[in-house]
Amino acid sequence: MPVDMVLHNAKIYTRGRIVEAGLAIDDGRILKIAKETNLPPASTKMNLKGHVTLPGLIDPHVHLRNQQLAYKEDFSSGTAAAAAGGVTLTIDMPNNKPVTMDSISLRERMKLAERRAVVNVAFYSAFPQKLEEVPSIVTEGAMAFKLYMSEKIGGLDVDDDKLLLQAFNKVAKMGVPVAVHAEDRKILETKRREMEKTGRKDVEAYSKARPPEAEAQAIRRIAQLAKKSGVQVHFCHVSSAIGLNAFLTAKKDGFPVTCEVTPHHLLLSSEHLKRYRTLALTNPPLRTRKDVIALWSALKQGFIDALASDHAPHTVEEKEVESVWDAKPGIPGLETTLPLLLTEVSEGRLTIADLVRLTSEKPAEIFNLRNRGCLEEGNWADIVVVDINRKYKIDSSNFYSKAKYSPFDGWSVKGKPTKTFVNGQLVMDEGEIVAKPGTSQIVRWKG
Ligand code: NCD
Ligand code: ZN
Repeated sequence: MPVDMVLHNAKIYTRGRIVEAGLAIDDGRILKIAKETNLPPASTKMNLKGHVTLPGLIDPHVHLRNQQLAYKEDFSSGTAAAAAGGVTLTIDMPNNKPVTMDSISLRERMKLAERRAVVNVAFYSAFPQKLEEVPSIVTEGAMAFKLYMSEKIGGLDVDDDKLLLQAFNKVAKMGVPVAVHAEDRKILETKRREMEKTGRKDVEAYSKARPPEAEAQAIRRIAQLAKKSGVQVHFCHVSSAIGLNAFLTAKKDGFPVTCEVTPHHLLLSSEHLKRYRTLALTNPPLRTRKDVIALWSALKQGFIDALASDHAPHTVEEKEVESVWDAKPGIPGLETTLPLLLTEVSEGRLTIADLVRLTSEKPAEIFNLRNRGCLEEGNWADIVVVDINRKYKIDSSNFYSKAKYSPFDGWSVKGKPTKTFVNGQLVMDEGEIVAKPGTSQIVRWKG
């Protein structure tokens, strides 16, 4: 019996190095990685023309929206954007309308995604109103909980550390992580009131209202709770030097913490925010050059666990408004992450090994995504083929995402995802989505 597919003439990144080989896929999984003569006969053969072949990206920070926010993004447009960007699995954030915060709302989102998605989708839940519901949310399949320290999303009072500890203890028993948006609500509220009183409406006022201290303070508070409860805490989008220091202190003390940074916090700073105004507005805000340097330094020393897009789509009308206080924060990133990072690789600031570790291997490990995150026999065939020499300009008008704007618009990049395979199926070919909606998997937590 021939196997389903053989990809041949590839440069495959496997076990820490690039090998010239082919890859046999059967039943959605990688059956064999070997020289072509040692691969089994296949129903379909595809020549990858010597292109670099990497594990598909696992993006742990994606807002796919849908439901009442479908005008910003839905499971079709969001996962098409993922496929176009070489992302084979997205973990969906819970700040939806309605908020994902119990097994019913989670099941509803899974049902919607199941019919529409073209890449694999896993889900976060916010904390429920009643903590007794934590186990049922996990058994329904949530991969992790998401906690916003910046505002109340879900059932928890974020100012109440005692309650947060109870919640963390419950989650610790279930063995899933808690991802945290670390900006302290009280600091944000005080600073914002101060800024609004001055009558300022500019983006710099917004940044002043969300200072790095708010990030550092929230990280310190949560790190203590991580230690006390033993729950694995993943800090989302760490953006500032002092936030990073708070994180590194906790990590060095052996607290169970990991963190991610975003491409926009690595590649943009407050100067870009001044130039692109509300289009580049995001939470936490873009920081100073000094903060950017600190993030890169930590990344090069191996202290950053993951890179995540924080794909946060809004309409252009919601972004381009007069007063910064009316603007929606968030930048779409699914279609720019890999090209931007490949450009960093081509310019020598990142290695392919760094890229794969930060965008696939570690996210799979942190979120317990079994048999994913690296190209190895037995794993799911979640693959992205890249043309590392292709030069082009980012053009947000071509995005599959409904959010057709980007602070990276017009940037010259080198490196393009040309084919994306999800569970062994070709879903994106030369920028075209070629899979039927609903062909991917809903990835559920399995105990
Ligand atoms: C997020 C969104 O739009 O959902 N926006 C963002 O700037 N990252 C929500 C949030 O994290 O504030
Ligand atoms: Zn966030």
